[in-house]
Amino acid sequence: MGRGKRAVSRRRVIGAAAAGLAGAGVPGAAGAAGGRAAERGGRYAGKTVLITGATSGIGRAAAVAFAAEGARVGFCGRRERLGRAVEEEIRAAGGEATYIRADVRRPDEVEDFVNRVVRTYGGLDVALNNAGIQKPFTDVHEVTVQEWDDVASTNIRGIFLALKYEIPHMRGRGGGVILVTGSSNQFATRPGLGSYTAAKNGVSGLVQAAALENAPHNIRVVALAPGMTDTPMLDVHRPDGLTDEQWAQEKARFAALGVDGFKRMARPEEMASAALALASPDFAFQTGASVLVDGGQLAGL
Ligand SMILES: NC(=O)c1ccc[n+]([C@@H]2O[C@H](COP(=O)([O-])OP(=O)(O)OC[C@H]3O[C@@H](n4cnc5c(N)ncnc54)[C@H](OP(=O)(O)O)[C@@H]3O)[C@@H](O)[C@H]2O)c1
Repeated sequence: MGRGKRAVSRRRVIGAAAAGLAGAGVPGAAGAAGGRAAERGGRYAGKTVLITGATSGIGRAAAVAFAAEGARVGFCGRRERLGRAVEEEIRAAGGEATYIRADVRRPDEVEDFVNRVVRTYGGLDVALNNAGIQKPFTDVHEVTVQEWDDVASTNIRGIFLALKYEIPHMRGRGGGVILVTGSSNQFATRPGLGSYTAAKNGVSGLVQAAALENAPHNIRVVALAPGMTDTPMLDVHRPDGLTDEQWAQEKARFAALGVDGFKRMARPEEMASAALALASPDFAFQTGASVLVDGGQLAGL
């Protein structure tokens, strides 16, 4: 976890403010389920939001945040126990959510997941294609073919599959917003992250192409590119034998070195609020871009 700074094209990277936004601006959806959430109001009242990879981390925080703003949230992930727990947490808070087990590496499961969310809630207004993995730092020539395929099939092929099955639903009902969770590794990397960086760079191009193809259909496609965020994904780098407290200290030390601006990692909730902002009509003219939200990580040399 070294510093690894690099110049970043200002034309492609746009810092986002995530507060004080109003109105969802995505097409309405009439569904039988989720009445309570819609009744409570909020920026996403009456909207259906689909999230891949919401059993933990940024996706989980986004599911909670969208539901708190009135959305009906359909989400997936492979770990059923965690999925059910997130679903229960949202419902206990008066929100509406449905967990559907799906592995984004499997075309049949992604197609079924998207279709079930649409059937359950009567449409699809916002998709946050977020599922992703990271592997322990490994030089490119030592990455196994299996590791490479696992990262690529989750972090870029899984995004392609989600877009493939989401876009026809959105075109069919006149529009929507598609977000993809990219990474600051779309713009710069560090040693040991070759497979992850290659997949995340792929996100930039896929988002651009999908944005151009779908702008005439009133569908925006945008990548949220988080910097270092304190989620369980980082645990792949946890050295053996550290206590939880030591690992927290190690992450804080690394963040202080690596994030030149705020000198800390983001909280998952800060990425969730950025996602809610990007999906809102405050960003109605935004499409095809990758929006860096990194606390100044890439601003420093
Ligand atoms: N944390 C960071 O510093 C950081 C920085 C930049 C970008 N990101 C990106 O943010 C996204 C979310 O990561 P996170 O940091 O929130 O990590 P996380 O807490 O580990 O969450 C990853 C989520 O993706 C799901 N997932 C992984 N593989 C999947 C598969 N094959 N099928 C379905 N779901 C799958 C996981 O669920 P299951 O394991 O239950 O399947 C989990 O819900 C990723 O795309 C990651 O690359 C993270």
